[in-house]
Amino acid sequence: MTVGVEAYTSEAYARAERERLWSKVWQQVGRVEELPRVGSFMTYDILEDSILVVRSDKDRLRAFHNVCPHRGRRLVDCPSGQKQACSRRKLFVCGFHGWRFDLNGQCVHIPEEQDWQGALTPDHTGLGELKVDTWGGWVWINMDPDCEPLREYLEPAASMLEPFELHNMRFRWRRWVIFDCNWKVALEAFNESYHLPTTHPEFMRYGAFGGWSKAQGKHSNIGFDAPKGMDENQKAKLRVGSGPDPRVSTAELQEFTWKHANTSTTETLVKAARRLVDELPEGTPADQVLKHWHESARRDDEQRGVVWPTVDAEHVGKSGTAWQIFPNFQIGHAVNNALCYSARPYGYDPNKCIFEAAVYGLYPEGQEPKTEWLYTPIDDPGWGTVLPQDFSNMAAVQQGMRSRGFRGTKPNPSRESSTTNLHRNLAQYMGTGAPKNLR
Ligand code: FES
Ligand SMILES: [Fe+2]
Repeated sequence: MTVGVEAYTSEAYARAERERLWSKVWQQVGRVEELPRVGSFMTYDILEDSILVVRSDKDRLRAFHNVCPHRGRRLVDCPSGQKQACSRRKLFVCGFHGWRFDLNGQCVHIPEEQDWQGALTPDHTGLGELKVDTWGGWVWINMDPDCEPLREYLEPAASMLEPFELHNMRFRWRRWVIFDCNWKVALEAFNESYHLPTTHPEFMRYGAFGGWSKAQGKHSNIGFDAPKGMDENQKAKLRVGSGPDPRVSTAELQEFTWKHANTSTTETLVKAARRLVDELPEGTPADQVLKHWHESARRDDEQRGVVWPTVDAEHVGKSGTAWQIFPNFQIGHAVNNALCYSARPYGYDPNKCIFEAAVYGLYPEGQEPKTEWLYTPIDDPGWGTVLPQDFSNMAAVQQGMRSRGFRGTKPNPSRESSTTNLHRNLAQYMGTGAPKNLR
């Protein structure tokens, strides 16, 4: 298949996304644990729409349009230099004329209300409400009053990911940045494994695995092929290194990943990998190394009160390494960590986007790290060295796509079908841009 560049480079397309796409889809806006107490709130901006998500009750979240019904002032401001507001209030007070709103979006105070002589009803004065729900520990909003329920929307991803108990994970770090590329270019840098040998050549020292991608309705998933004779777990993020001594190469791969990517593994896994040479005799076959490593790390974590979910090996294989949730969220899942990306437009410039990356882990209760969203320019050492290799393609792809000599992308049918599937689904919403047959 081939995909034209309109979805990536056209300003008219970017403008149409507001009505046709963003006002219709479920969007992940944050984590449930960011809203721990009654009155905790966060804002989420998507183009001109700003959404206010509030914990109105111990067991209830509500979402409102972040705009004062009086004269239209944005109700909660975003602190400058940050991508959102996230705090706690008893009431929301508009900064223009002082109208006040409770956590249920009801207007509870209007200065000089008598001037309206009773004409203002709660219908006029309440905040506009929209749908909010939770799944996987994330908060999701939808601006379409007629949308399908979140859980249905997320299938089959929700059922496939459920055993990984992602709701128990907590941020280990989270960073955001503005890229010089369309939001689809940013996500498509991570929804395939085809780029690994070229963009991340140093990983090839630890073994080159084939990878697959699969359309799953609106969503898609990707994974690695298991090497011959290897336990199905190998297909998940736990990878033993290849080479003459898998004890050594596994430890090296873990050290490298921890130090330079700071994703897709945990301190417990790294420490357990370092011990492999002491705990296993020389010549231990790779599948035994994997089994021992996995089991000893699981035991180490259990001792500190961190219990990994047990997921059937066949299911681990089928679930792959990452899910692309339509349209703009990727969940790289595992039993003990996760790496997630999202990207969304930055204004109507099709050549820019807001990109977020978050790494999650499991922690004993109360020992979660304190994190916040750090704005991190692409050349900041905070990103390590592996992600910047991906970042180095973003602006260059966007530039290339704008060349009059470029005739459309040609995603690899076996390893990049997540991209084809994204555009097939986008076209359903946008009415344009469906992938075409190459022949
Ligand atoms: S615009 Fe909010 S009180 Fe006037
Ligand atoms: Fe990459």
